[in-house]
Amino acid sequence: MLDLVVRSAQTVATGVVSLELADPGAAVLPEWAPGAHIDLHLPSGLVRSYSLHGDPHDRGAYHVAVLNVPDGRGGSGEVHRTATAGATMSASAPRNAFALEPASHYLFLAGGIGVTPLLAMAREVSRRAEPWTFVYGGRSRAHMAFVDALSALRGGDLQIIPQDEAGLPNLAMAFAALPPGAAAYCCGPPPMLDAALAAAGQARPDIPVRLERFIAPPPAGDPSQDQGFEVELARSNVTVTVPPGVSILDAVRAEIPGVMSSCEQGICSACETAVLAGVPDHRDSVLTPKERAANDYMMICVSRALTPRLVLDL
Ligand code: FES
Repeated sequence: MLDLVVRSAQTVATGVVSLELADPGAAVLPEWAPGAHIDLHLPSGLVRSYSLHGDPHDRGAYHVAVLNVPDGRGGSGEVHRTATAGATMSASAPRNAFALEPASHYLFLAGGIGVTPLLAMAREVSRRAEPWTFVYGGRSRAHMAFVDALSALRGGDLQIIPQDEAGLPNLAMAFAALPPGAAAYCCGPPPMLDAALAAAGQARPDIPVRLERFIAPPPAGDPSQDQGFEVELARSNVTVTVPPGVSILDAVRAEIPGVMSSCEQGICSACETAVLAGVPDHRDSVLTPKERAANDYMMICVSRALTPRLVLDL
């Protein structure tokens, strides 16, 4: 855990505050790569994950941007109320479940506050002088943060598409224009991510599409059909029973209260746990198909078991 101080808090778009977080003693912060996020531990006890949008080469500060969602789960409103200049807060070290992979061309698709991880990625790709296209949609220009920062990046093709002026981005056209070997990185509200997957499937099924979600998709399957199972916690030498309707995370916490979590929706990777035996029923939105097939790790906040017993490295 890191104890950080809010060095500045600036409104960067309608309802969006950007925080500059630093060590109180100006110590160098742990390194990170574009796509990474940190968990902020809020005064109420809520833990919320936010993508880093600054420059990884600046080891003196982290930058996160938070959209206030009045009808959300309370975390963003608390950040807006409490994270003022000079306030202190605890944060996790950066973690990355959305890392850049080598590609011949990068397509970044951002919707609203989903611009944050993609800004850091585009900055990195621009620095490497690799080709990129950035399609950024938002409700209106006033709602779109970091347009100036994106406009300052060299090379690439930046398309700023405020919905009230230009409607929705033509995602199929964006995919169709990509060369072989390209990759797409998308972050935004669920309808936009669904549209991106549909456009890729229709226009360019050869293009890998990586998604970063900040709202979990509807759960797959019927939770009323869930079965109970046992989980052995190898390092703790304890076995817990996970009944239907109870998450592995909650069952484990009865034995190990400090187990880490954040979103508890399968979208942030804070609860990622190594699987030593058994077959998980992956229900998260973090792992790639390859990682799911490997069954080396699982998100214990939402995933369950396909075998009567799992053994976890806890
Ligand atoms: S707590 Fe976020 S994926 Fe489990």
